[in-house]
Amino acid sequence: MSRLGGRSLYAQKRREHGPQGERFSPIRIDLCREPRTAGGEPELLESYGGLWDRRRKDYVDEADEACRFTLHEGQMDVARWFVEWTRAYARGERLEVDVVTGNDNRVERRVVRSMTMAGGRRGGKTNAAVKFAACFAVMRPRSRVWLVSEDFPKTEELELDLLGLLPSTWYVHLGAPWYKFTLVNGSIIWLRSAHDPEKLKRGRCDFAVFNEAQNIAKRAYVNVRGALSDKGGLCVLAANPPDQPIGQWVDEHVEETVAKRRAAVYFFIDPRKNPHIDYGGLEDLRSEVDDRTYAIEVLGEFRPRTDVVFHAWSPRFNVRPVPTDAEEVTDEFLRKHFGRPFGAFVGADFQLTPHQAGVVGRIWSKDAVEDRRLRMFEKAGIYYVDEAVVEQGDENDLIDALEGKGLRGDDTAVIADASGEWQDAERTRGRGSFDIFRRRGWKWIYPPDPSSKRNPHVTERVKVANARMKTADGERHLFSAPENLHLNRALRLWENKNGIPFRRSEHAHLCDAATYPLWRFYPRKVPRGRIEYRGLGTSRRREDFADL
Ligand SMILES: Nc1ncnc2c1ncn2[C@@H]1O[C@H](COP(=O)(O)OP(=O)(O)OP(=O)(O)O)[C@@H](O)[C@H]1O
Ligand SMILES: [Mg+2]
Repeated sequence: MSRLGGRSLYAQKRREHGPQGERFSPIRIDLCREPRTAGGEPELLESYGGLWDRRRKDYVDEADEACRFTLHEGQMDVARWFVEWTRAYARGERLEVDVVTGNDNRVERRVVRSMTMAGGRRGGKTNAAVKFAACFAVMRPRSRVWLVSEDFPKTEELELDLLGLLPSTWYVHLGAPWYKFTLVNGSIIWLRSAHDPEKLKRGRCDFAVFNEAQNIAKRAYVNVRGALSDKGGLCVLAANPPDQPIGQWVDEHVEETVAKRRAAVYFFIDPRKNPHIDYGGLEDLRSEVDDRTYAIEVLGEFRPRTDVVFHAWSPRFNVRPVPTDAEEVTDEFLRKHFGRPFGAFVGADFQLTPHQAGVVGRIWSKDAVEDRRLRMFEKAGIYYVDEAVVEQGDENDLIDALEGKGLRGDDTAVIADASGEWQDAERTRGRGSFDIFRRRGWKWIYPPDPSSKRNPHVTERVKVANARMKTADGERHLFSAPENLHLNRALRLWENKNGIPFRRSEHAHLCDAATYPLWRFYPRKVPRGRIEYRGLGTSRRREDFADL
């Protein structure tokens, strides 16, 4: 480096290389939808910028020329949302969404802080994110826009995109070590590395893009979100579903967003709708990689980690609201089982720490009535429609929570931890959890296994659950509502230790609550006599496993 310090060297270089000249420059981006047919006209979604006056340092008029950014069909939903967001921003307002808060599920309006685009490879997430960042920088003079990548080499993709998109007269870009584009209107687009997340604490940020967010640490996101909060800026995450521990936060982020537990929005970007790639080339991966990699990379599915208990659980396919195209058969289904109809069933597990867990289930079926009688048990879809998680509470608090959800003891079948018959959550023998329920008028209580006073063995029970989540022929029969944040997280994250479900996991209790009823409805026929359980190392009798 010369005798000049870094800063003044930059000033000198900028003078040499910067756009010289005219007082007025047209700086305008037209964000458009691609023409649907060859030779057709693009549809204008929004114009950003105008005629920039270097002396007054402001837009003084409309610009008569524009740089056109086109977006394809698969980017349309997110583009329309972005346009709405920028319009609100330009008015000095901030777009809001409904967010469900607290245990009582209050709905509040909150300012949107982040937007996630996720999906399979090559959908156009990065492309859209860079275009949005440029639109923002043009719309808002003197703004600070950050394009964050995993490390500096990875910023190159974004740098090349910007170089290809913006007319060279609009900016000064000197390359390394100045990883930034200084626009004529005073905005700066920084290319930043998340390699050391703490370095992202430096400076102001009005709009941020995380490219390949699944490879970036959560800490980086937290730091940038902090920098963004001054002026209600937006953080855009472009991500493939994570496959490594570092990106698991993206999975949680999306899950909370879909459950409306975060002031955020989420868009699935489908590569099949991207006309600029050869999707067949991606599909060919099917014969080259394993099923899991294909599902994540090509289909863009969020898959559970491989060391989890419920490997069949898919946040994308098993998390859904109750169906509108099927008939509710809760009454019939439970009558067949218990000899009397109920409006719902509750799976429950009693523990003071970390929590009392209750999940509320109902059943829907798509089959016609005649068919149903024969095939109800295999074909019906069990939906967990609600959850009750009471921290540091006793059985009475759990009952309060369930009653608060409109459930009635005389119309609900409770299928719970069998030990509730003789002990309560404080493990006081002789005072059973079931008695507390019965005293409160909840008298329809069933253990998971009708022929035993003990709980079914956990590894057998989770096999039943995995089979209901996804059978070998690809059918799914177990679902949970997007609002069940705790339950959905527990089902996704309950971890195996030494090959068997980890009993002391914080997720174990909700998963127990959710699987006791499944065992009751779909018991696995365990062979009599000696059987080998993988992971336990010895062969034992069935009875030996009863209370594990
Ligand atoms: N609107 C568009 N106009 C022109 N080309 C596009 C558009 N959107 C995407 N492309 C092209 O499609 C390809 C994939 O886009 P991009 O890299 O943005 O996808 P991605 O979803 O970020 O993929 P990955 O998951 O691999 O990071 C690129 O070659 C990109 O230039
Ligand atoms: Mg990308």
